[in-house]
Amino acid sequence: MNEKELFEIAAKARLSAYAPYSGFLVGAALLAADGRVFTGCNVENASYSLACCAERTAIFKAVSEGEKEFTAIAIAGGKENADTVCYPCGACRQVMTEFCGSDFKIILADRTLTLSELMPYAFSL
Ligand code: THU
Repeated sequence: MNEKELFEIAAKARLSAYAPYSGFLVGAALLAADGRVFTGCNVENASYSLACCAERTAIFKAVSEGEKEFTAIAIAGGKENADTVCYPCGACRQVMTEFCGSDFKIILADRTLTLSELMPYAFSL
């Protein structure tokens, strides 16, 4: 699975987003160490603060199915298409920190970063 392929899976997952309030559709594709891919999309709610981001949907799906080792996540977000860079929000960076190492790859539309680049000095217990 190369980075472009993982991003394409995220772009497809974006089409499942439930985002009637923001109109901002996000898809994520999380690559596990064993090669499995878990997808996620953002799921909004009329009670706005209950929205769940695509990245956390994917991570929680994976963990709930027994997977906790991850190597990369691709994120495809945007109102019209997935061409522009959509950085993960702070809450999702913190959830990534819980399960992923500093070299965990975050694949965006035109760049790839590591978790330590996006979340330096992260809080952990
Ligand atoms: N969103 C994500 O799915 N991931 C992020 O990292 C940033 C924001 C969603 C939440 C909400 O449904 C919409 O994008 C607009 O904030």
